[in-house]
Amino acid sequence: MCGIVGYSGPQNPKDVIMGGLKSLEYRGYDSAGVAILHKGEFKRVRAEGKLSILQEKLINEPFDGHLGIGHTRWATHGAPVERNAHPHTVKGVSIVHNGIIENYLELREELARDAKARGQVIRFESETDTELVAHLIAYQLEITKGLLESVLKILPRLNGAFSILVVSKDHPDEMIAFKNGPPLIIGQAKGAVVVASDVQAILPHTNKVVYIDDFEIAHVKGESFRIYNSKGEPIVKPVVEIDWSADRVEKEGYPHFMLKEIFEQPRAVARALAPHIDVAKQTVSLSGTGITDAQWARVERVLIVACGTSNYAGMVGKYLIEIMARVPVETDIASEFRYRQPVMGADTLAIVISQSGETADTLAVLRQLKTLGVPSLSVCNVKNSTIDREADGHLYMNSGTEIGVASTKAFTSTIALMNVLALQIAKAKGRLSPEDEARYVNALLAAPAQMETVLACDKFFAAAADVLKNYKGFLYMGRGVSYPLALEGALKLKELAYMHAEGYAAGEMKHGPLALIDKRMAVVMLAPSDNLYEKTLSNLEEAKARGGVIIALGTVGNERLRGISQSYLTLPRAEWNVNPLLEAVPLQLLAYHVASALGHDVDQPRNLAKSVTVE
Ligand code: G6P
Repeated sequence: MCGIVGYSGPQNPKDVIMGGLKSLEYRGYDSAGVAILHKGEFKRVRAEGKLSILQEKLINEPFDGHLGIGHTRWATHGAPVERNAHPHTVKGVSIVHNGIIENYLELREELARDAKARGQVIRFESETDTELVAHLIAYQLEITKGLLESVLKILPRLNGAFSILVVSKDHPDEMIAFKNGPPLIIGQAKGAVVVASDVQAILPHTNKVVYIDDFEIAHVKGESFRIYNSKGEPIVKPVVEIDWSADRVEKEGYPHFMLKEIFEQPRAVARALAPHIDVAKQTVSLSGTGITDAQWARVERVLIVACGTSNYAGMVGKYLIEIMARVPVETDIASEFRYRQPVMGADTLAIVISQSGETADTLAVLRQLKTLGVPSLSVCNVKNSTIDREADGHLYMNSGTEIGVASTKAFTSTIALMNVLALQIAKAKGRLSPEDEARYVNALLAAPAQMETVLACDKFFAAAADVLKNYKGFLYMGRGVSYPLALEGALKLKELAYMHAEGYAAGEMKHGPLALIDKRMAVVMLAPSDNLYEKTLSNLEEAKARGGVIIALGTVGNERLRGISQSYLTLPRAEWNVNPLLEAVPLQLLAYHVASALGHDVDQPRNLAKSVTVE
């Protein structure tokens, strides 16, 4: 949530900051702003709406200085209007902030009281919690005169999650960066320093970075920086060399990143599987992930925790692990798990899934599990993200950068990894015969090519979207491994098309959702030919009998299903464990095309953000 960038160096800060913000726009896009040194002052330019609006405003704005900060916002406190956009400036102190200051009202009252005692009145220009921090620092600066000293003074007073950059006109070659919670990374480039919420914004300048930890403070002066602990003592931090260059973030001819990412899925799934499969031997192995063979064999219970789309990938994992490895699996959404006083032990392996590796609730769960002594394995797309760094073991989606806010290729890559995990646990427990292992491995190896064929649904949904967009709602149904896919299909439509959609276990339909069905309700039925196919078919008949408009996804050659449905889309014949990978593609395309037909911004849906670093 919110992207922040700071730059101190010889280039025009406007170009570096705007370039950085562009790669951070996935974190929030309701308003944006910069404060850059010009004629001894930090000139502030802000705009409501997408970054492109700020970009236009900046075209003819000159800046003669070499220090600046920028922000792209996902509103928490205060409407997404210009006066609430960052930076917030108080008496020459400008700050950008990602997160929430939970005790801001209390601090605000305290500040107002102190000011009154001095015969002053504090005026707030915005409804944000951020402006308060600018006031606190400006007030401290009057006393201490030092920027670092002022931040050290106020830092213990702040509760909540925050990463903040501060500049001041009285210290025109200094910048302070500090955090508790959301990520903040600092890079040392040649003669320049770049600070940002995500390494993507730094990589065009340097791959040598330092990850600032909670309650540490980076003090940038000119072209270099030092890190201090919360007591103000200098500390030495490891410099991490990022081994990947800035990913290409271009649409490559596609109208949207999301469509490009949907089409990238066969490759992404192959990349996720590659490190763990021995093609010649037809075996899987999860060595080198940080979990030892003995630990795999000791697993008596698995817990999978995540948010949003990652949670649904985790639910697929539950079916796979329980069926293949016969180990009980519990799944939960992180925001619930963290407050329900869970009962866990060391025989549990906790799998935390987060493509960004920064989701606040998922990170909180990981930290909680550590205190309970539960070993953890992270499944992330972003290497060196906080969750990746803090977990005991690590698995990577290897999907490449995902720009579309609604996750697609990270989802299918995670499902591929859930398969590998299930096979690994089954093997470690002595519950997988070499024949079954080879069968599952071959099914997985065939999946990318099969996904390729399902991409042909693109044409169908592109043509059907104009009709589909007029339904009053969508009901998605499936059983077994297809049930989490029904939930994910509904989520995608909600996220992108802003339409009412619900995902349901098909067998549960008669306990409520059947009442919703009439001729204005589209029913998306996931009915691959697996062991639950006949049961799913009965549920489909029930929906049809109530007048629902049936869109069915079924295995090729299934004429019975074709007969029942208004629209029938075929999936290639596959093992049951691969069906979710195939089903994901048409569900994503349906949401994408309906949203496009409605004229929505599919890459940046309203009110959402890709990296949710607040609770
Ligand atoms: C946000 C995104 C979703 C994503 C969820 C969890 O809500 O919009 O696409 O599934 O966060 O993100 P994570 O990075 O933890 O997988």
